[in-house]
Amino acid sequence: MKNSITMTDNRTDKSYDFDILNATRGPSVVDISTFYAKTGMFTYDNGFTSTASCKSEITFIDGEKGELRYRGIEIEELATKHTYLETCYLLLNSKLPNKTELKEFDLELRHRSLVHENLRHLFAAFPAGAHPMATLSAATAALSTFYYDHIEIANEDGYQEMARRIIAKIPTLAAFAFRHSIGAPFIHPDIDRSYTENFLYMIRAYPGGKMHRGVNGEHKIKEIEIKALDTIFTLHADHEQNASTTTVRGVASTGAHPYVAISSGISALWGRAHGGANESVIKQLEMIGSVDRVNEFIARAKDPNDDFRLMGFGHRVYKNFDPRAKILKGLQDQLKDELNLDSNLMEIAQKIEKIALNDEYFISRKLYPNIDFYSGVILTALQIPKSMFTPIFVIGRTVGWITQWIEFKKDKSMKIARPRQLYLGK
Ligand code: SDX
Repeated sequence: MKNSITMTDNRTDKSYDFDILNATRGPSVVDISTFYAKTGMFTYDNGFTSTASCKSEITFIDGEKGELRYRGIEIEELATKHTYLETCYLLLNSKLPNKTELKEFDLELRHRSLVHENLRHLFAAFPAGAHPMATLSAATAALSTFYYDHIEIANEDGYQEMARRIIAKIPTLAAFAFRHSIGAPFIHPDIDRSYTENFLYMIRAYPGGKMHRGVNGEHKIKEIEIKALDTIFTLHADHEQNASTTTVRGVASTGAHPYVAISSGISALWGRAHGGANESVIKQLEMIGSVDRVNEFIARAKDPNDDFRLMGFGHRVYKNFDPRAKILKGLQDQLKDELNLDSNLMEIAQKIEKIALNDEYFISRKLYPNIDFYSGVILTALQIPKSMFTPIFVIGRTVGWITQWIEFKKDKSMKIARPRQLYLGK
């Protein structure tokens, strides 16, 4: 039996054969790279709902089952038994680190967390209150000017150095972006603190290191806060060919600098249909304000004439619960007392979820809560302002973007991304 698919043009009765490429997990693909040469037509797939853009071994999602794996390991195992740094190492090296490898990786990231002093002055060009996503994207693109040699990477050591550099520096740039947005002096990284604790330190501390009050007004960072944020970073680390990763791969395909590719990923992530949804979810829960008003907004979400959407609901791939959302929901329940989560926001979110999951409109469209539906309540409890929710998504996702960038560069069969169109003009 031929491993191919035959298509017939009913207008001419001509048939065309296209090879099937088998996956190790999930759907196989039909190789239509010869479709235009054979048929003289293009295929059309608005939003790429049925289109595979590349081959990859990094992340696997089964949307029907609600399954997510990084390098074959289930997200539930990584989020509960491993740290974010172990997950970064796994994504970059296709295996979890041993104790020595983890220690070396951690130490290198600590020492690379500083950014060139000139980069600090870049932020001064932006108006007070500039959104941290805009300044973070700009600063990340500017980082390329300090490391032009990364445009031509010759070997594995070069890829690792380039990747570890951006993974180490992105929290510092994100913290600088935040401090600029509130007019506060910048806090440089403290290499005696772990990766995740250091980020909380850089956004909270006063100059000289005295801590701004954190959870429960305490002037120190608690282990439970570090673990919660570390889990959030792990859950955001990578997610197959989502819109921002597709953007990063598109920029990689032109041969541009890896850090401007990451900057383009940050810009794409900012949209409220994508990573910007986490900030929009909390704004929406605050706007709804009370459980008594939930039905009013559910009705609006269902109204075809109202462009209101329930932020944090729905997903292009997950037609079941987003496994990351399940883990965050469990974390919310676990933390609600220790981090005194906002019970009103939680009650509103729980009522939305309860009604939506039993409503025909959402059921028929397989709309479930996604990762963004739950992250905001936890981040709010960590005293992290809404404007920093998507930058935190950036910190978690940078390892995924750079791993996908490296995979693209190593695949010599990959070509410049250049789709065609259905032309309807004159
Ligand atoms: C992320 O791709 C990834 O992997 C992304 C991500 C990652 O880790 O990288 O998982 C992160 O971006 C999560 C998604 C965050 N976005 C939101 O929460 C924004 C709200 N959700 C939607 O805008 C929407 O669900 C999308 C963008 C997430 C998915 O859009 P699709 O797959 O293109 O679906 P669609 O817009 O075609 O909707 C299908 C139907 C439509 O109704 P009909 O036209 O069939 O009548 O479902 C409806 C939509 O109107 N619908 C919603 C809805 N989401 C879809 N109706 C109300 N509220 C919603 N949230």
